[in-house]
Formats: sequence, structure tokens, C-alpha cells
Amino acid sequence: MGATIAVLSQKGGTGKTTTVRTLTDVLRRIDLDVLAIDLDPQGNLSDYFDVDPDATPTIADVLTGRADAPQAIHDDVIPANLSLAEAELMLAGKMGRELTLRRALKPLRERYDLILLDCPPSLGLLTVNALVAADHALLTTEAQYFALQGVEQALEVIELARDGLNPDLGWLGVVFNIADMRTRHSRDAFASLQEHVGRKLFASSIRASIAYAEAAERAVSILDHRPDLGADYLALADELLARLKLSEARMRLKTLIEA
Ligand SMILES: Nc1ncnc2c1ncn2[C@@H]1O[C@H](COP(=O)(O)OP(=O)(O)OP(=O)(O)O)[C@@H](O)[C@H]1O
Ligand SMILES: [Mg+2]
Repeated sequence: MGATIAVLSQKGGTGKTTTVRTLTDVLRRIDLDVLAIDLDPQGNLSDYFDVDPDATPTIADVLTGRADAPQAIHDDVIPANLSLAEAELMLAGKMGRELTLRRALKPLRERYDLILLDCPPSLGLLTVNALVAADHALLTTEAQYFALQGVEQALEVIELARDGLNPDLGWLGVVFNIADMRTRHSRDAFASLQEHVGRKLFASSIRASIAYAEAAERAVSILDHRPDLGADYLALADELLARLKLSEARMRLKTLIEA
């Protein structure tokens, strides 16, 4: 019930937000109740879901104790905006700062089948809060040579969260994102990552396409904008559901893919 997944990467621009956005969409289409939470002061996820920029309360209010998490849900999204940067600073001076999100999300876990957390591009306090609140971590990486380095750094932070505050945190795997498998560069990067992380690397990588920027700009899902490309995320969702052992949902996804 209410498995919580933190989507993170050490680097910026690895497709975290697009992954949260699109997986949420796929999973909702097979009747799962999914809550998407924006944990990035850039507020990209909130934009991608077309949340009113003035919507309040936001995740910043939740983390600073000004609102309860259920109040901050707007159409199954908890949005963020720049005020989250300030909230992070405030949080830094508090006792139990790493546990704040975990405590805040507790009442929501029973209301949702899945909760997806979109982390900012750093391994700081917000990402640590996400890892402490989560049952699983999901890494994204851009398809290039330095991918491995970023993945290793993110894994160290996952290890830290496990050692201390969240010993049950699982690692779902790495999504190889924004890939052009026609190039040798991408194929080599994939192979080198696979050598190091083995089956933790999702077999379904996400192809690079300008269509993602277009879809983001129009706040529509890639599944509607370019279903041919969206197929990558359907395949990824299938692997994800298998790893989460959600076999009934996986059957429904199969029906959706075949439709
Ligand atoms: N498969 C893809 N192919 C091409 N471009 C993509 C793809 N996925 C995402 N993008 C684009 O890459 C940029 C970064 O994507 P996204 O915002 O999802 O990454 P992020 O990791 O969340 O970034 P940040 O670290 O800044 O939060 C966006 O402009 C997005 O539209
Ligand atoms: Mg992002």
C-alpha cells in the first residue's frame, strides 16, 4: 500500500521530472491512484502538470509545518515553487530535519497506490528527505560517458540513507534516459553502466527526442503528443511494475499496450 518512490539523480537534466510526469500518467491510465510530489524549487513538475502557479499550499508549506500534506494536494499533485528554496534553508536548522517529509506523508500513504517524488538536481537536504520518506529509489541518468560516475554518487547517498534513517530503502534501478542508441556513444555508455550495475539497469531505455520539450511546453503527456515515443515509457512502466511485484497492474498495462 502506498509505495513511495523517490526519483533522483546527482546531475541536472537527466529526465527526472519527465520520468515522474510520464510514469504517473501511465500508471493512472491503468487505474492506479498516484500522487506526484514536486520537491524541486524549479517547480518543473508542477508546470508539466499545468498546476496553477499561484496554487497554495505547496510542499514548502508542508515542510515548514504551515500546512498538512492532504491540504497541499491539487488534482493529485503536491506542487512546488521557488518558496521551497527558502523552506529548505529553514528546514536545515531544525531537529529531525531529514525526517520531516516522511512524517508529513504518513497520512497519505493509505490514500494512494503509489507516491512519486521528483527530486531536485542535487543530493542535498530535499533529496535526503525524499530518500528517508521513500520505500524505493529510482535513478535516472543521461546517456553519456559520465553516467556511471553520477550513478555511483547517487548510490552513495542511498547507502547513507539506508545506514541511518531508512534501513528498508530499496533500489529499483537506473533508467537510461535521453538516449540515442543509433550512436556508438550511447551504446557504449549503456554497456559500461550494465557492466557495473547489472540487471539494475532497466532494459527499456528512453529515446531522445525534441518531442519531449514540445510536450512539456504544452503541458501534455508524451503518451498523447507522440504515442510512438511514449511506448518507451510503457515498456519502462512494465519493468517497474514487475520490480514492484504489482502483477495485477501489470496485466492491465498489458491490455493498454495491446490496445
Ligand atoms: N527523452 C527525452 N529526449 C529529449 N529530451 C528530453 C527527454 N526527456 C526529457 N527531455 C528534456 O530534457 C530537459 C530536462 O528534462 P527534465 O526536466 O525531465 O530533467 P530533470 O532531470 O528533471 O532536470 P532537473 O535536473 O533540472 O530537474 C527538458 O527540456 C525535457 O523536455
Ligand atoms: Mg526536474
